[in-house]
Amino acid sequence: MSKYENLVLNELNYNSYLKVNELLELQQLLSKPAHHDEMFFIIIHQAAELWFKLMRHETAAMVEAFRTGSVSHALKNLRRLVAIMQLQVQQINMLNTLTPVEFAGFRDHLKPASGFQSIQFRMIEFVFGLREPFFLKFFEKEPEKVAILEGIAKEPSVYDEFVRTLDKAGFAMPAALLQRDVTQGWVESPELIATLKEIYENPKENYHWVLLFETMLDFDEKFAIWRSVHMLMVARTVGMKTGTGGSSGYKFLAGRAELRFFPELWSLRTHIGTVY
Ligand code: HEM
Repeated sequence: MSKYENLVLNELNYNSYLKVNELLELQQLLSKPAHHDEMFFIIIHQAAELWFKLMRHETAAMVEAFRTGSVSHALKNLRRLVAIMQLQVQQINMLNTLTPVEFAGFRDHLKPASGFQSIQFRMIEFVFGLREPFFLKFFEKEPEKVAILEGIAKEPSVYDEFVRTLDKAGFAMPAALLQRDVTQGWVESPELIATLKEIYENPKENYHWVLLFETMLDFDEKFAIWRSVHMLMVARTVGMKTGTGGSSGYKFLAGRAELRFFPELWSLRTHIGTVY
């Protein structure tokens, strides 16, 4: 065997390292005859799931960085999360190349598959603190996924870790926040708003914190933009039809467009320039 043949057969290369062959086997169209646009539809969802995987990876590292007091490392992970969400928004925009007639050409084949069943999306929401039990029912037939979400719901959220980090850094946080039952929904805290406002209004000694807060807001904003562009894309692609997951579709998604992970970081802006 020549040296070249040996290299091709045995050595690590681009395809073997990245499992390209396996990856390219994963796009299995259900429409018969194959609808041209179903390939695009599958790839756009698979790409989103890969980015969700990286988001989970970066979020876990960010939580660890908060816990160990390494705020600059948390900021590094957060900046990557913002960049991924920016891309996810652009990916949803790509669906504007799919007309309603084209989508109707294969939509029935994928029913009752729905974004409601994206375990990674729901894990991300749960980790960041949105933990609505309503969504567990979409995993009834996959109890291991219900267990994953229930497990996350018992842990402090990213926002809880952030509040604890501020407390450890010397910004006294209210005991009610530090000792709250993390399985329960977040209740907006006037004390947290007051502390954040104080930090913003004294930028000279606090600017590194301001940068962290603004990057957290970038993430929250990009996520909200994703919700909005996804909602508008749905109106554009299927109008007011009910979703394949059984929701009212556009109207349901409109109700979720206002969700925020870090509510006090938004609320404090109302009070800037006023006594609070
Ligand atoms: C033609 C393309 C798409 C249509 C028509 C569509 C439609 C919908 C609808 C109607 C819902 C509400 C739930 C239901 O009743 O099924 C939904 C939820 C969802 N979709 Fe899509 N979607 C599309 C593309 C995507 C893509 C590319 C992603 C990427 C991950 C995605 C992720 C999700 C997620 C995560 C939810 C749950 C949202 C939440 O609970 O707040 N969708 N989608």
